Amino acid sequence: MTAPLKHSDPITVDVALGDRAYDIIIGRDVLQTLGGRVAALRPGVRTAIVTDRTVAKHWLEQTESSLAAAGIATSHVIVEEGEGSKTYAGLEKVSEALIAARIERNDLVIALGGGVVGDLAGFAAAILRRGVDFVQVPTSLLAQVDSSVGGKTGINSPQGKNLLGAFHQPVLVIADTSVLDTLSARQFRAGYAEVAKYGVLGDEAFFTWLEANAAEIFSGSAAREHAIATSCRAKAAIVSRDERETGERALLNLGHTFGHALEAATGFSDRLFHGEGVSVGMVLAAEFSAQLGMIPPADAARVERHLASVGLPTHLQDIAGFAQEGLADADALMTLMAQDKKVKRGKLTFILLEAVGRAVIANDVEPAPVRDFLQRKLAKT
Ligand SMILES: NC(=O)c1ccc[n+]([C@@H]2O[C@H](COP(=O)([O-])OP(=O)(O)OC[C@H]3O[C@@H](n4cnc5c(N)ncnc54)[C@H](O)[C@@H]3O)[C@@H](O)[C@H]2O)c1
Ligand SMILES: [Zn+2]
Repeated sequence: MTAPLKHSDPITVDVALGDRAYDIIIGRDVLQTLGGRVAALRPGVRTAIVTDRTVAKHWLEQTESSLAAAGIATSHVIVEEGEGSKTYAGLEKVSEALIAARIERNDLVIALGGGVVGDLAGFAAAILRRGVDFVQVPTSLLAQVDSSVGGKTGINSPQGKNLLGAFHQPVLVIADTSVLDTLSARQFRAGYAEVAKYGVLGDEAFFTWLEANAAEIFSGSAAREHAIATSCRAKAAIVSRDERETGERALLNLGHTFGHALEAATGFSDRLFHGEGVSVGMVLAAEFSAQLGMIPPADAARVERHLASVGLPTHLQDIAGFAQEGLADADALMTLMAQDKKVKRGKLTFILLEAVGRAVIANDVEPAPVRDFLQRKLAKT
């Protein structure tokens, strides 16, 4: 695979879900085409944009002018940025605003933002009048390669993340790679962990290409579009075969069993962004696979080396405040993993590696070897 040198025309990735199929449009400045595309898809439609404060500051005006230029009526509701908006209160605010904006069954909700806004707006659309269609305009790298594709929407309960939600597929996804220029470097890097994940779980050639082109992706050249399109294609292929995660879709959880436990141990705070937890989790999953003899240790080292080379945390000890309670304790991490939804009858489900580029679902992993493994990792400082 060679890196494209020039910014190409927008790339379209098709999510093949029968009568709920939709396109993901990826490219620089494709946000400007939103209005025209919405008008073509739904002539005469009324829209409401859901966004957060930070994204609104940078991108709301451009989004509204694209819609206005195509003659599309629109209004907006702005929530606070961050996970704190994916709550009952956030849902109430958005739902009431959509009702007040007279969004009817044939109208469209537009989610303009990262994964928080996408999950919240998508869920509000799913339950408004028993289901209104929505468009995803993902503005974080994580949202462009992961959360905006596949139809999982929802909010958090005080008892746990993503416990309330619905499968509700968007009708269109517009991933403008230039909006990522205003994203913080740390957020971009966290999203990159999910990009690398697609290589590690199912596409060795893509992982090799990432090893050679990561700097270009970070600097915003055409390699960025290629990386995002390849990631979306990978996710779209898996989702179209297993929309409701009865099997193969679980492969996308590579690095997430460990990662979620680490996020929980750090209180879902700025100490560890989701993608950062996935990065550490992916390295742990690779190293655990090596310990089980499924891959050579050199393969696990290769995964670690690449993620570390872009500045992602790859070891438990890299996490801010590592020595504080919860993180440096294998039993506490085991308890957090046991609370995760990936546990059945005392056995843990892990996504493990048979090779770089080939992940498998292991749903009968005994806790004892995992605990021993974590203890050994924690002993290494
Ligand atoms: N539905 C799914 O399949 C799925 C998959 C993965 C993650 N998620 C969810 O996604 C959420 C995380 O998403 P996220 O990492 O995008 O977080 P986020 O939505 O909180 O965005 C991260 C931060 O970046 C800011 N931001 C976003 N785009 C920006 C831009 N272009 N310029 C400047 N700032 C920008 C936001 O305001 C926010 O402060 C979590 O709630 C997670 O549960 C959902
Ligand atoms: Zn993830």
